Amino acid sequence: MSALTKKETDRILGTKDFLTLTDVSGEQILSLLALAEFIKRKHSCGEEYAPLKNKTLAMIFEKSSTRTRVSFEIGMLQLGGHALFLSSQDLQLGRGETISDSAHVLSEYVDGMMIRTFGHDKIQELADNASIPVINGLTDSFHPCQALADLLTIKELRGTLPGLKVAYIGDGNNVAHSLMEACVKVGMKMAVATPKGYEPDPLISRRVSEMAEQAGGQFILTNDPLEAVEEADIIYSDVWTSMGQEHENQQRLQDFIGFQVNEKLASYAKQDYLFMHCLPAHRGEEVSAAVIDGEHSVVFHQAGNRLHAQKAILVDLLAD
Ligand code: CP
Ligand code: NVA
Repeated sequence: MSALTKKETDRILGTKDFLTLTDVSGEQILSLLALAEFIKRKHSCGEEYAPLKNKTLAMIFEKSSTRTRVSFEIGMLQLGGHALFLSSQDLQLGRGETISDSAHVLSEYVDGMMIRTFGHDKIQELADNASIPVINGLTDSFHPCQALADLLTIKELRGTLPGLKVAYIGDGNNVAHSLMEACVKVGMKMAVATPKGYEPDPLISRRVSEMAEQAGGQFILTNDPLEAVEEADIIYSDVWTSMGQEHENQQRLQDFIGFQVNEKLASYAKQDYLFMHCLPAHRGEEVSAAVIDGEHSVVFHQAGNRLHAQKAILVDLLAD
């Protein structure tokens, strides 16, 4: 703390980058949500709020995106700044320029970077070599912006977080990892059900179990979707085949049989359960059309909250 300036002590995260929720406390998550709610209220009242006037964000995409790209770009605009979309296919990064050189060069031009990439080691290397903040817009291992938007959505719709049960059904992937970290830290009960062989990274599960104990949350890992969904307040699903795993698609369609969120499975949850999905979704695979298009589904509200949650992160990391 002693090395921080006054301005930095006012910050919620107190770190240069936002790469995972691993080292972010439950208290910091709640403060980010409060900031997001404040920014969202200002926006809906039509009040100008431009703490990022003249700030620039470079957005590097090595994978496709609809929500992340649009919400970061619009978020920067609404905060008074500007975002640049940089496809890795057009960057010299895609032709072999090193991550380290790219990080140093971009640090000369812009005030922050957001990247969507494959291995988490790549974003770590980018952040280690950049003098400016780096934000994780999804890696193979984590999707922390998504998890913040998810908690914001639950808090808005249920008024509270601690004590609620979230059942994540499907692949133990990037979305699952960040959601697990976020939920247990704010005192929620998190149940993850995956087919055998598709469990979350065991190191992350172990850490999440420890975090749950410290924060009064709970973490249940099972291969039985019914056990996870029982009495759940929220049912959450994501695609069975993530970006970069397309060659495994046929095998996964077989292996995930029984893990579709449909009305039968959802009947084990609380009667007023919410259905959430980070999107994009595959109707008829991880979720039935009846559930995702039904009255319990809040997926578009959830997608909308990406904008507000990320504006909180941008303000916390980039504002003077
Ligand atoms: N949920 C999410 O990150 O969506 P995109 O892939 O469209 O950005
Ligand atoms: N798990 C999915 C999330 C997409 C937002 C993927 O990585 O493709």
